[in-house]
Amino acid sequence: MIELDDSEILPLSIEHNFWTWSAQKKVQPIPVTRSKGVFFWDEKGKRYLDFNSTVMNVNIGHSDERVIQAMTDQLRALPFAGPGMATKPRAMLGKKLAEITPSGLTKFLYTLGGADANENAIKLARARTGRFKILARYRSYHGASHGAAAVTGDPRRTAWEPMVMPGVVHFLDPYRYRSTFHAGTGEISEEEFTRAYLNHLEEIILFEDPATIAAVMVETVTGTNGVLIPPEGYLTGVRAICDKYGILLICDEVMSGFGRTGEWFAVNHWGVKPDIMTMAKGLTSGYAPLGAVAMTEDVAATFNERVYEGGLTYNGHPVSLAAAIAVIEVMEQDGLVARAKHMGETLGEMLIELADRHPSIGDVRSIGLFAALELVKDRKTREPVSPYGKTSPVMAAFRQKCLEQGLFLYTHWQNVLILPPLIITEEELGEGLRILDAALNIVDQETGM
Ligand SMILES: Cc1ncc(COP(=O)(O)O)c(C=O)c1O
Repeated sequence: MIELDDSEILPLSIEHNFWTWSAQKKVQPIPVTRSKGVFFWDEKGKRYLDFNSTVMNVNIGHSDERVIQAMTDQLRALPFAGPGMATKPRAMLGKKLAEITPSGLTKFLYTLGGADANENAIKLARARTGRFKILARYRSYHGASHGAAAVTGDPRRTAWEPMVMPGVVHFLDPYRYRSTFHAGTGEISEEEFTRAYLNHLEEIILFEDPATIAAVMVETVTGTNGVLIPPEGYLTGVRAICDKYGILLICDEVMSGFGRTGEWFAVNHWGVKPDIMTMAKGLTSGYAPLGAVAMTEDVAATFNERVYEGGLTYNGHPVSLAAAIAVIEVMEQDGLVARAKHMGETLGEMLIELADRHPSIGDVRSIGLFAALELVKDRKTREPVSPYGKTSPVMAAFRQKCLEQGLFLYTHWQNVLILPPLIITEEELGEGLRILDAALNIVDQETGM
């Protein structure tokens, strides 16, 4: 055990550490000392209900003894093996992933997380097609390394331009609540809406020259940009366009995978089979760092004779792989995918009911235990409570109120994300919703109602 008084965690952590995604003088980390189920505790014993599965990753809940045991057993058996070595957990995880991922994905490359899974996906697509452009969407996040940041559409890319990977072209997402093509056109059918966004994609492909495009890369369900769920026919349409032009489809399931949407992977909702699918987060539920790139035989065969130039020291770390196997077994034993679907329906109903009481809720979107509330100043004009790419004093006050009341959640500009662990009970959801309900009164004041 590390010998350090709890009171020293915060000051020492701030003094000697550089923090990601933060202005160093403004960091306010929660000193976390333990966690269990859907809760974690700070050094003073304050309990937080984790409505964000910490970093949208602790899908099976915190401190599950079955995973801890499996990791401990692996540490005792073989704490490390090189990325070029065959191990028991490696043999078993590949087999397991081939079972639970969409049919056709048969080979798995292990990474340390989501960003480097996407980096490898891009390399594979470029090598397979001999083309260099990657098309990705504006409202998307694919990771913080240079390649993954380049495909990211939002300000987490623009912050680093022009020093990001070249060869990326962005296109618009089918975002019904703020549809670029349909502002002021009144109600349109889902079919018409989908068609407009597929036409837009195909037009860009033609302008860019299909012979230069290696892949279209999408978050199957867009996460941090506000839980944007593809309309009916959209993903199958993207698949068809890719097939028409010999372009590969890469689905980023880093956030939407591992039961989050009430299916093992979000692509299953629409029966879409990507050529390459990336995953991380829920793969180990946070018990160890791990990502993976799933690919078809056809993609993998590019490197049957040619060497795949890529890999990191810790790829395929046995303890991470053992954690992933144990997490998948827990999900199967406890029926967590079906549970996410069922509890997701309950959450969806609760959020719609919440929207009835709060004029600041402009839109409610949810699929499984993957939900967002989009907050506005005015339901008619849909003016967001925070401008694009920025937070606002009212959103900061809202989140602070939730934290004070022991509810940990993630807000992104005008969106409140709700992604609890898949083990959450109806009572625990109710506890979180009561805190949200009270904190939303702060945002309602912005609407003047
Ligand atoms: C959709 C998506 N892709 C990729 C990433 C990057 O994953 P990581 O932080 O593990 O590099 C994230 C992280 O939030 C994500 O949400």
